[in-house]
Amino acid sequence: WIASVAGLAIVYLLGSTPTGYLAGKLLRGIDVREHGSRSTGATNVLRTLGKWPALVVLLIDVLKGAGAIVFADWFYPRLATWPSVAPPAGGDLQIWLPWAVGLAGLAALLGHGRSVWLNFSGGKSAATGLGVLLALSWPVALGAAAIFAATLAIFRIVSLGSMFAALAAIALICGLEQPLPYRLLVIAGGIYVIVRHRANIQRLLAGTEPRLGQSAIADA
Ligand code: G3P
Repeated sequence: WIASVAGLAIVYLLGSTPTGYLAGKLLRGIDVREHGSRSTGATNVLRTLGKWPALVVLLIDVLKGAGAIVFADWFYPRLATWPSVAPPAGGDLQIWLPWAVGLAGLAALLGHGRSVWLNFSGGKSAATGLGVLLALSWPVALGAAAIFAATLAIFRIVSLGSMFAALAAIALICGLEQPLPYRLLVIAGGIYVIVRHRANIQRLLAGTEPRLGQSAIADA
């Protein structure tokens, strides 16, 4: 079980990689957590650093999520072939692998949202969540991305798109034929993404949430 926990720690650290923070420090010597929404996510990088840094941060954050699932899919079956692990765990690989992969996805989301390198602050895990979904179930990822794009096109508010996408992912994973651990992962992950948007929800209710292209956040 030590190796199992080590696997989760690795994906947590992968998720923890503070892409947006590093972009701020390297490109402009600023801490993006002191600007805009205080998030290290691509949306706040867009506000504070501009389009290209935001695009790179978005891409890497998506890759972190997908990488976590790819790593877990690779790591855990190999773990089961280790002599000390093989007898009990190895035989039930088909049963416990989806649980391990699901937990790895959650660990990556947690790492992005609560990075060990940033005093447990970070982003809102929407992009990393998309990466997790892409590697786990691309139809769910595409559906969630479509809802995000439609919401953004209509309202031009990224946070609203992220939260609707999280809800869409939950609905889709429950509607499609998927293993129970994946369903639970997406439900928990979707709720986590929405909870991370607490401040956005308050601003949305107060009518102060900035639209795409607006840089100011009134109460940040
Ligand atoms: O994925 C994050 C986005 O939904 C909201 O970002 O910076 O506007 O809080 P932000």
